Amino acid sequence: MKNVLLTRRIPSSVLSKLESQCAVEVYAGAGALPHAELVARAAGKDALITLLTDKVDAEVMDASPSLAIVANIAVGYDNVDLAAAQARGIVVTNTPDVLTDATAEFTWALILGVARRLVEADRAVRSGAWKGWALDYMLGTELRGKQLGILGAGRIGRAVAAKAPAFGMHAAFAHHPSASALGLKTMSFDELLVSSDVISLHAPLTPATRHLIDKRAFARMKRSALLVNTGRGSIIDEAALAWALQERLIAGAALDVYEDEPRVHPDLLKFDNVLLAPHIGSATRETRTAMAELAVRNVVAVLSGADPLTPVTSAL
Ligand code: DGY
Repeated sequence: MKNVLLTRRIPSSVLSKLESQCAVEVYAGAGALPHAELVARAAGKDALITLLTDKVDAEVMDASPSLAIVANIAVGYDNVDLAAAQARGIVVTNTPDVLTDATAEFTWALILGVARRLVEADRAVRSGAWKGWALDYMLGTELRGKQLGILGAGRIGRAVAAKAPAFGMHAAFAHHPSASALGLKTMSFDELLVSSDVISLHAPLTPATRHLIDKRAFARMKRSALLVNTGRGSIIDEAALAWALQERLIAGAALDVYEDEPRVHPDLLKFDNVLLAPHIGSATRETRTAMAELAVRNVVAVLSGADPLTPVTSAL
């Protein structure tokens, strides 16, 4: 039997399918598997099923000469050193498609939540600060007629854009060859910053997108703009975001992802116009089960000599 390490528990229905074909070791700790322990547990494994909280580097890969696949339970794979895997002939897979709708729906929850100050409103009711209906109380901003600027024309960015007409918004994407090839409305990144009312981030984290939203970008945005991030935290320079909020260069932000999870830049906690979620964009029962299932199917395929279903081929 082939040996598989699972770095976190997965739904039992999915786990039992894997256990019927492989010897499975599951890390049952509460949080992320410490790196040194990941290296130790990887020894002798043929497959690793990992999460975005696991740094899968050359040291982990070298722990097991028989390692054939790293199946990451996430669509993003910036936690896996793809070049190191390719150099060692190790297959890397991710979980695209199955989480697109859940993440797009959650992005809209954040857009609506920050535009209509939902979390602030909830806090006001709970704390007793609400003193009754008033014409000018807790005013938000309307979406109809506004521009949704999207960075990243992948599956999730496009699914978010597809729902824009339901709220009377029109979507525009930052220039990218894939966006133009799909016939999407595109404009330069700077134009997008200047003209968008809501800016939503869906690009992968790469050297080119790290801190793309920096002080310079905030200075270009509308003062009424809302920034939403369900992609990767490090696309935003969080210190620059805190500065932009302090200077009232933008009207608010809704974040699901952070530069150094689970740590949140302390200055961001001070602002009422920032909605903070704990990286739950894909967190529905259906989707998380489907993500685990896809990772398991990739492992079973590769360990039985077949092609993986969703291989990752290009470096981010
Ligand atoms: C991903 O899949 O990359 C998300 O961040 C977690 O669902």
